[in-house]
Amino acid sequence: MKGIILAGGAGSRLYPLTLVASKQLQPVFDKPMVYYPLTTLIEGGIREFCLISTPQDLPRFRQLLGDGSQWGLRIEYREQAKPEGIAQAFLIAESFIGQDAVTLILGDNIFYGGDSFQKAFGGFTSGATIFGYHVNDPERYGVVEFDAEGRAISIEEKPRQPRSNYAVPGLYIYDNGVVALTKAMKPSARGELEITDVNVEYLRRGTLRVYRLNRGFAWLDAGTSTSLHEASAYVQTIEKRAGIKIGCPEEAAFRRGFLSLEQLDALTGRMPKCEYREYLAEVVAEAKRLAHPHVA
Ligand code: TTP
Repeated sequence: MKGIILAGGAGSRLYPLTLVASKQLQPVFDKPMVYYPLTTLIEGGIREFCLISTPQDLPRFRQLLGDGSQWGLRIEYREQAKPEGIAQAFLIAESFIGQDAVTLILGDNIFYGGDSFQKAFGGFTSGATIFGYHVNDPERYGVVEFDAEGRAISIEEKPRQPRSNYAVPGLYIYDNGVVALTKAMKPSARGELEITDVNVEYLRRGTLRVYRLNRGFAWLDAGTSTSLHEASAYVQTIEKRAGIKIGCPEEAAFRRGFLSLEQLDALTGRMPKCEYREYLAEVVAEAKRLAHPHVA
């Protein structure tokens, strides 16, 4: 399974923050926003990534994430010249996807809690899998209706009269057919290749599955100043209370076995003195204690 992180767009709702740095590089409490979706996919076992952003912002993402080898990953970069739709990602990343299945995550979607994605990635064979998240205000989102077996019944983009309370978050899993399907699509009235149209096509073929995200699972999007602030506050609250970090790619890569304990130790040692380093040093110390329980 390959992973695409879509981190372009205009970010106009965050103006003037986004005049000099893209939305997905803004801090969400103690780390850049893009760390969160990246970590979500690492936790799901994905190792090969393509990050798509604007020509202006791409160099900064490269500076931040490099080629991924420091975390045992491979990260490639592609430009989206204009924000011509989320589904355009499959055309831009065609050579990266190759013959594989692919997960697309939006760079401003933050998830926390449970192992739903790991299960969904692990159980994925063909067709498309999207997620359903219960919300108060479904009319603001793509809305999906589904049966008890998780088969999608309808999917609509920002409907006036939603048929369910389940919004579709910005994380989608597709088989390799998504590339050909997107190539055959036409832009919508607003000039974009719509991700909802991709999902509607899978629905028409009877291969769109919906995985319900359970209660207690948090899905935050950080597209406005208010939601960005709320996401930061949420992350701070959980991290302070539980003494863990959300959205820490180093830790996730270590726990998935992409990085050895020695590599994580060395990586941590190269960081400047800061809370982030102290946290990872504690992860390393804990792992050493577990590996050698008889040593005090
Ligand atoms: P949006 O939040 O819909 O758009 P935006 O990020 O440009 O923000 P604004 O509405 O404030 O101008 O996009 C959702 C996500 O998808 C976001 O992470 C940006 C990304 N995106 C792209 O990278 N390319 C695109 O063509 C589109 C439509 C979105």
